[in-house]
Amino acid sequence: MSATPPDRVRMTGISKRYGPIQTLAEVDLWLAPGEVLGLVGDNGAGKSTLSKVLSGAVVPDSGTIEIDGREVRFASPADARAAHVEMVYQDLSLCDTVDVAGNIFLGREPVKSLGGVRLLDKRRMHDEAKAMLEKLGIVIADTRLKVENLSGGQRQSIAIGRAASFDPKVLIMDEPTAALAVAEVEAVLDLIRTVSARGVSVILITHRLQDLFLVCDRIQVMYEGRNVAERHVADTNIEEVVNLIVGRKFAARSARHGAADIEGARP
Ligand SMILES: Nc1ncnc2c1ncn2[C@@H]1O[C@H](COP(=O)(O)OP(=O)(O)OP(=O)(O)O)[C@@H](O)[C@H]1O
Ligand SMILES: [Mg+2]
Repeated sequence: MSATPPDRVRMTGISKRYGPIQTLAEVDLWLAPGEVLGLVGDNGAGKSTLSKVLSGAVVPDSGTIEIDGREVRFASPADARAAHVEMVYQDLSLCDTVDVAGNIFLGREPVKSLGGVRLLDKRRMHDEAKAMLEKLGIVIADTRLKVENLSGGQRQSIAIGRAASFDPKVLIMDEPTAALAVAEVEAVLDLIRTVSARGVSVILITHRLQDLFLVCDRIQVMYEGRNVAERHVADTNIEEVVNLIVGRKFAARSARHGAADIEGARP
């Protein structure tokens, strides 16, 4: 009998409190290799915080994380990167005044030695950046363009391309399509399909629920820092997901309205 391979990611009982706010309360999340998980929930549900725990940017108060069956403890994003977990943040962390290739290689620029002097190997940097972008199907006319001159969609693609270049096993994208035009959204969704087809597990945080059904295998819904539901996309639809996201809120509201109606009906 062959042993089942461990999950790529298994987060168990993750809790995080900021002052009076229990931002995450015993949250679980798992992810298979090459799987695309849509992480959804209302504003403030804890999606970004949970993904920051997985990317090492937030240290949880309690809970455990396993990657490929081995427990890890991340004290910083560098720790997560070493375990091949990459995150593309809601506010893209690109350098506007640096060109495309420079952004992709920021902090690990290739160097060459010339007469004992170490110099930036610009040619190699641009060649490698170009090859990497082509492999991901990202169309940028010239890797010498400054990032500030790119469209929102191109900037998002560069941020994803940079993350993908670290050879991740897990790629977390927080609202990658929030500010994009329709065609640009399609390009980012294509990119998600490309990386997941290569075995990368993806967590996609989005408020664009229609996108979930185009790229995700599974959807996890959070509500006020807790897991509320999990569905395979094949077993659900937008209406159900909307209800799961806002369900309790509407249930509470209609209960209040119901009470008012009954009171109003009294003579
Ligand atoms: N560093 C922090 N200090 C204090 N409170 C925080 C901090 N980070 C997050 N929170 C709080 O935790 C809660 C969850 O925030 P989080 O950003 O994870 O939500 P989200 O689901 O990503 O929401 P959105 O969809 O609006 O991006 C919010 O109430 C937020 O104010
Ligand atoms: Mg968020």
